[in-house]
Amino acid sequence: MPLNLAVIPGDGTGPEVIEQALAVLDAAAEMHGFEGDWTVYPFGGQRYLDSDIVLDDADITRLRTHDAILLGAVGHPDVKPGILEKGLLLKLRFELDQYINLRPVRLYEGVQTPLRDKGPDDIDMVVVRENTEDLYTGAGGVARRGTPHEVATQEMLTTRFGVDRCLRYAFDLARTRRDRNAKPGKLTLVHKTNVLTYAGDLWHRGFTEMGDAEYQDIEREYHHVDACCMYMVTRPESYDVIVSPNMFGDIITDLGAAIAGGMGIAASGNLNPAPGGLSMFEPVHGSSPDIAGQGKANPLAAIESVAMLLSETGRATGGDVMLAAGRAVNQAVQRVTPRFDGLRLDRSGMSTRDIGQLVLDALGV
Ligand code: IPM
Ligand code: MN
Repeated sequence: MPLNLAVIPGDGTGPEVIEQALAVLDAAAEMHGFEGDWTVYPFGGQRYLDSDIVLDDADITRLRTHDAILLGAVGHPDVKPGILEKGLLLKLRFELDQYINLRPVRLYEGVQTPLRDKGPDDIDMVVVRENTEDLYTGAGGVARRGTPHEVATQEMLTTRFGVDRCLRYAFDLARTRRDRNAKPGKLTLVHKTNVLTYAGDLWHRGFTEMGDAEYQDIEREYHHVDACCMYMVTRPESYDVIVSPNMFGDIITDLGAAIAGGMGIAASGNLNPAPGGLSMFEPVHGSSPDIAGQGKANPLAAIESVAMLLSETGRATGGDVMLAAGRAVNQAVQRVTPRFDGLRLDRSGMSTRDIGQLVLDALGV
């Protein structure tokens, strides 16, 4: 069965890194005996500037015909902040009910971390960020705008349904990781229950009740988000799986990307784990207009997103060859990073194409 992808290269460095990611996908598919097909959709800042359309219903209907979405980056210097973020990225996450944002934080050999005395054994965690609720729903409003009496609210929407489905995913992931690589099996809830007493209490009760009833084999821990930021720096080795609401998850995963070598390597999956759900994979980084078109962007985050896409799609559809291809791409990336020998990837002097080629070589094509 061919893998039928929707590809949204997007803006800035998006198209450059996606080009490399697709070359790797193509090679991995061929090696593992399946066909990787894709359709490119020109959504992003330029299309909006040309046509005033960000993403309409017909676009979403077309995207739904695919097995998965690969997205480069959206964000354009001539487009006001918020338009593409809300109209494209968040719209897709919400419309396609991609309620999990999966963000591994893993330091590979040869990649430099700003944390002194920490190595690959210490930095290996996954953040499960809730992806459809919280401050991101757009609930709230503004009145008397532009006057001295202006009022603005942004509401942290939290539902028991949304919390429970996210917690279940995170508990299951902690179990899988334990079974796979002898991690102890630990889940840390990150919130701010000492101040956000309504939403925090909902999360904490869900966490405790589900853990007691169904996951007694998983160690549970709770950290306030501010303390979590400190521990991610001082003792990242104590984390295994972290689960958090949308906004805190957004913030701590930038910190996570930083300790694992930076935005050049951080991948993510917006998952709809329901049967038949459509998921979207993207580097955590943005469109970096300052270096766009110069061949300087690190494609490893996009290539790692392809590895995730293959693994997650394989897992969802029972496609063993896709799972194997995902593992192969991930291993190829891990064979490439030691060659950076402690250099930061962005100072390695290599181009986007050079790094893509190194991964292709490591894949053995
Ligand atoms: C991310 C980004 C987005 C988010 C923005 C661009 C809307 O920061 O994917 O982490 O806040 O989720
Ligand atoms: Mn972010």
